[in-house]
Amino acid sequence: SIRYKNHVQRGNFSTLQPDDVSFFREKLGQHRVVTEQSDLAGYNVDWLRIVRGSGTVVLKPKTTEEISIILKYCNERNLAVCPQAGNTSLVGGSVPVFDEVILSTSLMDSVLSFDEWSGVLVCEPGCILEKLNDYLLERDFIMPLDLGAKGSCQIGGNVSTNAGGLRLLRYGSLHSTVLGCEAVLADGTVLDLMSTMKKDNTGYDLKHLFIGAEGTLGIITKLAMQCPSKPNAINLAFIGLNSFDKVLTTFKRAKSDLGEILSSCEYIDAASMECVTGNLSLKLPIAQSPFYMVIETSGSFGEHDEEKLNNFLEEIMTENIVSDGTIASGSTQVKDLWALRERMAEALLKDGYCYKYDLSIPLTVFDELVQDMRTQLGEGAKRVCGYGHLGDSNIHLNITSETFDKSLHNKIEPFVYEWVAKHNGSISAEHGVGFKKRDYLHYSKPNEAIGIMREIKNLLDPKGILNPYKVLPDTSSSLKL
Ligand code: FAD
Ligand code: MLT
Ligand code: ZN
Repeated sequence: SIRYKNHVQRGNFSTLQPDDVSFFREKLGQHRVVTEQSDLAGYNVDWLRIVRGSGTVVLKPKTTEEISIILKYCNERNLAVCPQAGNTSLVGGSVPVFDEVILSTSLMDSVLSFDEWSGVLVCEPGCILEKLNDYLLERDFIMPLDLGAKGSCQIGGNVSTNAGGLRLLRYGSLHSTVLGCEAVLADGTVLDLMSTMKKDNTGYDLKHLFIGAEGTLGIITKLAMQCPSKPNAINLAFIGLNSFDKVLTTFKRAKSDLGEILSSCEYIDAASMECVTGNLSLKLPIAQSPFYMVIETSGSFGEHDEEKLNNFLEEIMTENIVSDGTIASGSTQVKDLWALRERMAEALLKDGYCYKYDLSIPLTVFDELVQDMRTQLGEGAKRVCGYGHLGDSNIHLNITSETFDKSLHNKIEPFVYEWVAKHNGSISAEHGVGFKKRDYLHYSKPNEAIGIMREIKNLLDPKGILNPYKVLPDTSSSLKL
């Protein structure tokens, strides 16, 4: 996991000194400044166990003011900082590359207010997504986003990544559901963009800069989120299909026949399904098929929704579009079926090493990409599979091997990025750029755009202390795993 170090140069930052630790202890107290080697390990390695840093201190502030003091100090001392929330980033964004100071938001986990009339939640960045959803469920609302990492990811990390997930099809991206944010800039300046209003056309909408900035422009310290009402009924159809054309037809039909109650449309190919059932011992509820889909409806009138979904399933089965299917309505049943899709990342990791690609491509070519990759790799990979957010044109192409295999990696990249660029897609649909994808940005962004990104970075963080080596392409050397 330290392979990349030979290819990336440490920036010209200061190294942490005992005086720095004393300063942090004076401001935060003994226990919120972690320096014990054994306690640091988990903060230095990513969820996929691919990238590993060597940060020697973790700071755990509790307030915006404390973050402001920390950043002002780090900026003056020229100490680099890596913000970390739930550390579930899949692009190596949340761990240091070298010895950056790790700034954890995990103790900033309070809900500050919830307005039951507008559905606007104001909270701190360290709130765990699932806990926020539970909090809202008690008040008949839900979070506008849902993802497999909900039990450990934090809302500040979600917004900083501009995470998508399973509900984006229905509730839109965080660019529409985040109403306001507060951020601390590299020099300690507190930028209050905390509108709780849906509409605000007073010039450039600066909050959008922080949505998806992955900690490179400032630290998000507060958020205002627009939350939807809790649907009275959730129904799920889990179906098997014999060809990819039938997957496409089913999606089109789901949009037209289920209309306003469609809340998720996910796709899983046979190789992915084999992985999640085999590696996690989960049971496949229907007959084996080349493709599967999870279609969820959320609505206000249970009987009506169930009837609609039943009719839909009956019709596509009668027309031989779908080969087998089941419907779940109870919450346990719904949860069990969702596990087959949500736990895919966890299942793949059990294969050993996972080469993960999160791509936007036209949905008509989803399976073509998987097949082309199989042909490209021959017998070299343990598994080549595709699953993802069909309804959002976002496929997760995953390749696994027992351990990291450089020659396999060289066959995958740049092949996969060239393939995506040829189809005018995006090399990162929802996971962000982080450390792992930054040198491939040009496949999806013109140089002019990357140039403006650099200028914005220089404006807000002139010394480049915030999450260095992330998002923006390396100018000194290129990343070669
Ligand atoms: P971290 O990983 O800790 O941080 C993410 C980035 O944000 C880092 O660059 C970090 O430096 C920065 N950051 C964190 N907090 C702040 C802050 N307060 N201010 C500024 N910068 C900050 N992603 C999806 O889009 N859709 C999915 O469906 C999805 N499913 C997943 C399933 C699993 C099992 C896993 C492991 C990951 C999944 N992800 C998914 C990827 C990941 O992006 C999300 O889990 C989540 O958005 C990351 O949140 P986090 O709290 O773990 O943030
Ligand atoms: C998902 O949709 O399951 C996540 O984005 C994680 C992954 O890509 O494996
Ligand atoms: Zn995803």
